[in-house]
Amino acid sequence: MFSVGDSSATWARQSKLNVFFQTSVVSTNDWAKEKAFGSELATSPISLFLTEEQTHGRGRGNHSWSQNSPSSALLSSWVFELPRPPRSVVTCRIGLAVEKALTATWPWLHFSLKAPNDIYIGKKKLGGILVENLQQGKANCLIIGLGLNVFESPDLPLATSLFENLKDERFLSAIDWEAFLDRLFLELSLAVSLSAEALSSSEQMALLSALNKKVDLPEKFISVEADGTLITAQNRIHWSEL
Ligand code: BTN
Repeated sequence: MFSVGDSSATWARQSKLNVFFQTSVVSTNDWAKEKAFGSELATSPISLFLTEEQTHGRGRGNHSWSQNSPSSALLSSWVFELPRPPRSVVTCRIGLAVEKALTATWPWLHFSLKAPNDIYIGKKKLGGILVENLQQGKANCLIIGLGLNVFESPDLPLATSLFENLKDERFLSAIDWEAFLDRLFLELSLAVSLSAEALSSSEQMALLSALNKKVDLPEKFISVEADGTLITAQNRIHWSEL
């Protein structure tokens, strides 16, 4: 077993990202927010904040995010400088980017996306994403907080980890983890580079498929519009309302 935070920091340094790593912090998103627009981040357009343990990890709304024991989960905040404020569809692209990277690395697991930005395997939650957009004068930055249960999950009935599903360390080696991070970085960079664009037809279909893969959906989605509006037989739900 490798230490998730430490291995991810080593990968990020090798990938020439601007890396910030501490063994314990309150929340990587809060830490990234404090540093955003500062001189330490100015050296690179992409920075990554990582830790082994958060004392008050945040989820969307009033939710919290907890991990079971240190080093067992990916606790990360990816900071991208943007030339202009993003459209709200950037959040659905980011969820799709994470689901794609997981599926590319472990294609036999049944990953799905629960709108707005939860990652599931089967009926259980594997991870969550908290996207925050900051603006200062003309400068913008997007903070993508991603938590993924890797070796352990919190003691909650509907939480799961990669290891619980892969069942064997042979499928979750440090090499597999680096391959996942390579793919994740690629997919996130692509999603962020399109942050001013509406969803293309093929992105709408990819999102529809990732959402409808979720087991026990009360009703299937019929389509996804270019601005991320979700259509079911009964409802039209805009992504930003979720
Ligand atoms: C959710 O499930 O509502 C989103 C959870 C996001 C958790 C991650 S963990 C790393 C980053 N730092 C935080 O405080 N939150 C995000």
